[in-house]
Amino acid sequence: MYVKQLTNKPPAFYAVALVVTLAPLYFGSYQYRIRHPYGGGMGGSFLTFIQDWLDRDLIQPFDPSPIAAHCKRSTWRSDLIFNLEGGPRGDVAELRSSVLDFIFYAIEASASIVLPYAEERAGFNEEGKAVELPDFGMLFDRTWFLEAIGQACPQMTVYTPGAEMEDMVSLPRTYTPYSRRIDIGKGNTKDDFLHDLDAWLKEGVNTTSGGRATLVSLERSLCNEDVRRLAATVVKASAAMYPWLKINAREVIPSQAFVGAYLHTFDYDAESSKNGEAYSGFSAQADALLAYAAQHNSHVVYTASENVTELARLKQKAAYLSPPIIAITKFSVLTDSDVNTLKSLTPRQQKLVDYEVLRRSSVFVGPIWSPMSYAIALARNEWWSGQGRVNDPWYVTHAETGIAFDDGMSRVLGRDGLIEQRVVRAIWP
Ligand SMILES: *[C@@H]1O[C@H](CO)[C@@H](O)[C@H](O)[C@H]1NC(C)=O
Ligand SMILES: *[C@@H]1O[C@H](CO)[C@@H](O)[C@H](O)[C@H]1NC(C)=O
Repeated sequence: MYVKQLTNKPPAFYAVALVVTLAPLYFGSYQYRIRHPYGGGMGGSFLTFIQDWLDRDLIQPFDPSPIAAHCKRSTWRSDLIFNLEGGPRGDVAELRSSVLDFIFYAIEASASIVLPYAEERAGFNEEGKAVELPDFGMLFDRTWFLEAIGQACPQMTVYTPGAEMEDMVSLPRTYTPYSRRIDIGKGNTKDDFLHDLDAWLKEGVNTTSGGRATLVSLERSLCNEDVRRLAATVVKASAAMYPWLKINAREVIPSQAFVGAYLHTFDYDAESSKNGEAYSGFSAQADALLAYAAQHNSHVVYTASENVTELARLKQKAAYLSPPIIAITKFSVLTDSDVNTLKSLTPRQQKLVDYEVLRRSSVFVGPIWSPMSYAIALARNEWWSGQGRVNDPWYVTHAETGIAFDDGMSRVLGRDGLIEQRVVRAIWP
């Protein structure tokens, strides 16, 4: 199932990574900085830590070609138009994310869009005080955005709210899109999303639309951004708790911050065919994770696992080492109120917090049997290659026994012929 997810990684998955950077919104950040001038220092500051961290991600430059290829392949539906429901809320990062998620869903559904937040508007905050609501142009460079979409996906029509919308049939309910994080859960494929959307449309459209286009309002998906924000908070809290770690929120991958380790073992799973394979058991895997941390002179390891019992055992093992290693988790560094927020998330979202933190650890190590490991290692490797580093992460399979991937920055423990073969083939150039 895990192999399937990776091999089926649709171009749109990469499209989203690129769409997320599509509007990196130099303009938006510029505006944000003007309004928050304390963020101007070179090294960044604790005041802007979270924003700085969120502003950076592994895959940055905008390349329209994957989106273009994706758009060309789909059959575009002139009868379907997406509209982003509701007014903007939150700060720059949240707005940006909701807009970009929205565009991603539209591309996947081969639908056109109504430009979100296109108008200047005023609104009221919780205390009933009048506030200025940001429009699209405040967050995004509208001209550049329209040009970029026109270049990458000319098949998509971008409507501006107004007269044109009167010709559309607007569905009364709001559609909440199906999760598309295929890297995190099985079954979140494009087909699943499209089936879900079709079923929803059938249910919603009782009257024939008489040749007119159907306007679908999409619920804002703030959860990814909320999750990233929590991840940023985890990193910030770690920086505060262990000030000797050289964590700079403005570095995508700080070189001497913390080691990230993901634990996924099979000891307790008597049925598993992985039993007995190198690094598949707790002791061997935990030792390898900690040895890797020690090798990188890191006394703090950010650890994650679905098995909290084993996570506690790992912490204990680390503490008994000489010199000891401090194993932290998202729960151990956050304040009570953030822990409560974290606990209000679904298990999948909680796992996403780990995923986001681990992606940006100084060095990462995890076992081949968890989808997290390869997803993280490959994304980091792509980023590193983008920095001009030439390396062969697969060479290690000849040089060491039982290691599937090592590029000097990420290491994948264990071997699995099937997973390795398919994953290698599924790598994007
Ligand atoms: C569709 O029509 C059925 C029966 O005519 C009705 O019960 C249902 O509420 C309608 N659905 C919508 C979304 O209008
Ligand atoms: C976690 O691991 C322990 C053994 O280390 C095992 O007894 C337990 O069943 C595991 N829990 C889950 C939920 O897999």
